[in-house]
Amino acid sequence: MARSAILNVMVQAAMKAGRSLARDFGEVQNLQVSLKGPGDYVSQADKRAEGIVHTELSRARPDYGFLMEEAGIIEGRDSQHRWLVDPLDGTTNFLHGIPIFAVSIALERQGQIVAGVIYNPVMDELYTAERGGGAFLNDRRLRVAARAKLPDAIIGTGVPHLGRGHHGNYLLELRNVMGETAGIRRLGAAALDLAYVAAGRLDGFWEEALFPWDIAAGMILIREAGGFLSDKNGGHDMFETKSIVAGNEAIHSALLKVLKKPVKPE
Ligand code: IPD
Ligand code: CA
Ligand code: CA
Ligand code: CA
Repeated sequence: MARSAILNVMVQAAMKAGRSLARDFGEVQNLQVSLKGPGDYVSQADKRAEGIVHTELSRARPDYGFLMEEAGIIEGRDSQHRWLVDPLDGTTNFLHGIPIFAVSIALERQGQIVAGVIYNPVMDELYTAERGGGAFLNDRRLRVAARAKLPDAIIGTGVPHLGRGHHGNYLLELRNVMGETAGIRRLGAAALDLAYVAAGRLDGFWEEALFPWDIAAGMILIREAGGFLSDKNGGHDMFETKSIVAGNEAIHSALLKVLKKPVKPE
């Protein structure tokens, strides 16, 4: 598998930040933590990892702008390119000692995602994708799962933070999806959920109230692994609508149908 120069830069940045996260994960009880909103924490580890990604990417491409979870928007002189960075996806898992978290980096060119990297340092799993070049887990080419029927499918999801998504509607959706699938998983890191769909570990995924930094790298991984994506209404501006539904073609369309279903009374 030949990686482009820019993908190599992204891999180096993600792995360096990942090693910092792995060190902090070993001393999680000593980290300073603050609350951004209900159930929404940020720690020194998030900020340290974000600083590393910012330094590495800026060194390689000084003119590109950024959208990062913690620092927000950093304008660049080059208006064609933007980095989308989640330095620690799965902060809640991380702070509870659950080793399901990752660094997520995507590159946008003229509004299109052209490359993505997701790295889980605990499992040493590196997911990479470039437009037209396929998706990989370490050196292995990825393909979404082939299961075509919802009753055979394991579906990932995420529960929105309090005050972000609509919990009442979410519970109704969850009940409908539970009624038609083989099982539900809530890993707690949206970037990894999407990477797992690309890798065929999850057959499908849906969540709402996500941000571009949560989903950008996962989106290109899924597309390059032959998967299908949209928001809950079948639209394609997920950065705007913030919901995402993913799977192979059959599971994606079956999931969309279930999510549109009115809720049956018990
Ligand atoms: C969160 C995770 C989680 C999702 C939340 C996100 P963070 O990201 O991806 O799985 O359910 O909506 O905010 O804050 O840990 O980077
Ligand atoms: Ca966060
Ligand atoms: Ca995130
Ligand atoms: Ca984060």
